[in-house]
Amino acid sequence: MKLVVCFWVCLAFVSQVFSQQLTTFWYENIAKQGVAPYNTQGSAYKVYRNVKDFGAKGDGVTDDTAAINAAISNGSRCAPGAPGIGCQSSTTSPAVVYFPTGTYLISSPIVLYYMTNLVGNFHSMPTLKASTAFPSDAIAMVDGDQYTSANPTYGTTNVFYRQIRNLLFDMTSAPAKNLVRGIHWPTAQATSLQNLVFKMSTASGNQHVGVFIENGSGGFLNDLVFYGGNQGMNVGSQQFTSRNLTFYNSATAIYQVWDWSWTYIGLSINNCGVGLDMSNGGSTGQLVESVVILDSTFTNVPIGISTSHTISTTTTAGSLAIENTVFNNVPVIVKGPTGTTLAGSTGTVYEGAWVQGNRYIPDGPTHVETSVSSFSRPASMVTGSLKNYYFRSKPQYENVASTNFASVRTGGAKGDGVTDDTVAIQAVINSATAAGKIVYFDSGIYRITATLNIGPGARIVGEAYPVILASGSLWNNIAHPVPVVRVGAASGQSGVVEWSDMVVSTQGAMAGAVLIQWNLASPATTPSGMWDVHTRVGGFKGSNLQTTQCSITGIQPNANCIAAWQSILIGNIASGLYMENNWLWTADHDLDDVENNNTRISVYSGRGISVESTVGNIWLVGTAVEHHDLYQYQLYGTKNVFMGFIQTETPYYQPTPSAVQPFAPLAGRNDPDFANFCKGKTATCNMAWGLRVLNSTNALIYGAGLYSFFNNYDTTCSNHTTNVYNEYCQTQIFGIDEGGSTAYSGSTVFTYGLNTAGSVSMIDWLGSSIAAQSANTNVFVSSVIRFVTKTPG
Ligand SMILES: *[C@@H]1O[C@H](CO)[C@@H](O)[C@H](O)[C@H]1NC(C)=O
Ligand SMILES: *[C@@H]1O[C@H](CO)[C@@H](O)[C@H](O)[C@H]1NC(C)=O
Ligand SMILES: *[C@@H]1O[C@H](CO)[C@@H](O)[C@H](O)[C@H]1NC(C)=O
Ligand SMILES: *[C@@H]1O[C@H](CO)[C@@H](O)[C@H](O)[C@H]1NC(C)=O
Ligand SMILES: *[C@@H]1O[C@H](CO)[C@@H](O)[C@H](O)[C@H]1NC(C)=O
Ligand SMILES: *[C@@H]1O[C@H](CO)[C@@H](O)[C@H](O)[C@H]1NC(C)=O
Repeated sequence: MKLVVCFWVCLAFVSQVFSQQLTTFWYENIAKQGVAPYNTQGSAYKVYRNVKDFGAKGDGVTDDTAAINAAISNGSRCAPGAPGIGCQSSTTSPAVVYFPTGTYLISSPIVLYYMTNLVGNFHSMPTLKASTAFPSDAIAMVDGDQYTSANPTYGTTNVFYRQIRNLLFDMTSAPAKNLVRGIHWPTAQATSLQNLVFKMSTASGNQHVGVFIENGSGGFLNDLVFYGGNQGMNVGSQQFTSRNLTFYNSATAIYQVWDWSWTYIGLSINNCGVGLDMSNGGSTGQLVESVVILDSTFTNVPIGISTSHTISTTTTAGSLAIENTVFNNVPVIVKGPTGTTLAGSTGTVYEGAWVQGNRYIPDGPTHVETSVSSFSRPASMVTGSLKNYYFRSKPQYENVASTNFASVRTGGAKGDGVTDDTVAIQAVINSATAAGKIVYFDSGIYRITATLNIGPGARIVGEAYPVILASGSLWNNIAHPVPVVRVGAASGQSGVVEWSDMVVSTQGAMAGAVLIQWNLASPATTPSGMWDVHTRVGGFKGSNLQTTQCSITGIQPNANCIAAWQSILIGNIASGLYMENNWLWTADHDLDDVENNNTRISVYSGRGISVESTVGNIWLVGTAVEHHDLYQYQLYGTKNVFMGFIQTETPYYQPTPSAVQPFAPLAGRNDPDFANFCKGKTATCNMAWGLRVLNSTNALIYGAGLYSFFNNYDTTCSNHTTNVYNEYCQTQIFGIDEGGSTAYSGSTVFTYGLNTAGSVSMIDWLGSSIAAQSANTNVFVSSVIRFVTKTPG
């Protein structure tokens, strides 16, 4: 016990010595050693680009558009272009474009290339200022996906690995009558906008928009502040998680163009005409399928939420849940097409919740527009008198000097995708952690041949998604799983670890690789964190799991493409872990396809994430888990797990081969017992579960999208036009204590906004389906707005 106390005191002391008030961000000063080993330019390719090195002045007078675009386009990169000419995707040309403090005048769009991060000085955020001549037909000040035909160049659901941080978008000099937007951001998983400010016109009738998303499959947004504008955000995507968005004086804070579902955590909407407008399409053609709002505040907003849903709506379109939200001077909290659905009064506090849509308690569905009680939130996971959940943004270490970062390349690692960097990296992790320094992974592909161990106190941050690439025979025994990265000793350890902006991967056949095993016990009040740490199995240069090796034709499963045993295992001895914006992806296509065609591949991995922490207090904020064979998410013997939004996809090849090939389910790992559960059922029962909850309490789900689109690469089973709510890609996708030879019981699950696609059953409990897809039809998906296994109902 004493040792632990000393550890914390020492760590606090060390952090205090190294932490100081700085004016320059460490990333401006740190040695620029990032590499992109598979880039055709070799070592001449530069990952880091300071816009001032490309001639940007940042003086508020000079037009810096061309200089910034030159910083982005420099070198051999994945450029947008006309169909057949533009690059579709690439992992071989990552770039970070850095902005020192200054005001950068912009007269036409800054065009982002694939895998570009824009990062500003955290201290006195740099301003991108739209010029008075900013053209009315330009798509946005920063264009995340350039239209080069009727569609954006990069398929919007394939835009991965990019972020924009620490910038202020000033549109106030651009004509108020013009449609001027800050960011055009049609993106998919592993993307983020963080710590941005949008200053727009406050003139009545102005046309400014802060963030514009028309399509995609996101994604994560956090810590954004919007001033003025016609619409702070104008957004549509399959799903998104957004957290800590603040709006002042916008005509409409958020205009929701469409979605399958969107989770808004911690909205602060102040002096806006409408808070969230989700009425698009009108009552006969609703386009917004569902929205979940929690821990938010609306102040001086005449209409909180505008919807086209009514109690007589025959589908679940316009499903809405609001929990634990304060309405101050919001006379109409929810406005329907014909008048007030939910009236407010000054100081209305929804400590409880309100829902519209289909409800199961656990019987159902009942179509309701009603107040309901809040889920009972574990005291260990909430803060303050409002009992909001604890949330923490990705640390940027802004008050740590660059000299207190320990670079793995300086420490001897090469990151060239060839050298065995195991020893060098482990030495840097150990020595930097002991010295209270932050481990810095310069951009690169770090090949390792033995497990990397991360101990308590470690803080690790990557530049432009460096990859840890497990390579060698250690990990290729399906009967003997071995972690690639292990946080906390095999027997368990206590303390706190912070880790951000990295990818963990495997090379070639790796049937025994557990990409991340988490064994660390951390306090619920200061949990450990993983922000933008992703797993990626196959589908990129260096993985040896690409188009040539893992074609979808030929004998399956192809032994050369059995590439991970599990993506993330949070062990029973672990606790107190905060995960935000993590994407665990078994590749369904090749991002570095030489044919530039996003060619599909068949890669096999056993399991997605399993949470087995007996103490619990686990946050999964904005996470997605795709294409693992047995299950995507599994909770076993755990408690207090926050999940919102969670998104899954079933492997495209299933049921050929079925879920139990090549990974035979192991009872000892609580794998699904398909043999028993699917006895006498159709082949499409033997398909990966999206989410399983076994012997676990307080699974708190704030938005889920569990999708199954294929049978052996054929989408006929999910064709919404022909099957009209009788899609049949798989029979079940979400199971709670589901039947089988093993006894599971007592799980308590609380859910807002469950959305499924392609699954006949939406929820299975104790061996039986309790919610049918066909009973909960929405526009495209099927939706249940509230489901609880027990009271509070
Ligand atoms: C990239 O930038 C370097 C350094 O500024 C410059 O020498 C080089 O010409 C640029 N290359 C291209 C293709 O623009
Ligand atoms: C979004 O994508 C769909 C499918 O590709 C397309 O039909 C639609 O036009 C797109 N929407 C917008 C606003 O571009
Ligand atoms: C919300 O964002 C602001 C900056 O926009 C930041 O100062 C604050 O810490 C964030 N709050 C949370 C709970 O993340
Ligand atoms: C790209 O892929 C599609 C479908 O997989 C195929 O029909 C098309 O011929 C491919 N195009 C090229 C240029 O390979
Ligand atoms: C679904 O089926 C309709 C009617 O046969 C067809 O026109 C459409 O292209 C199909 N859509 C997909 C995504 O396969
Ligand atoms: C689940 O819990 C029940 C009782 O709570 C217990 O009987 C059963 O053994 C547990 N199952 C497993 C697989 O741990």
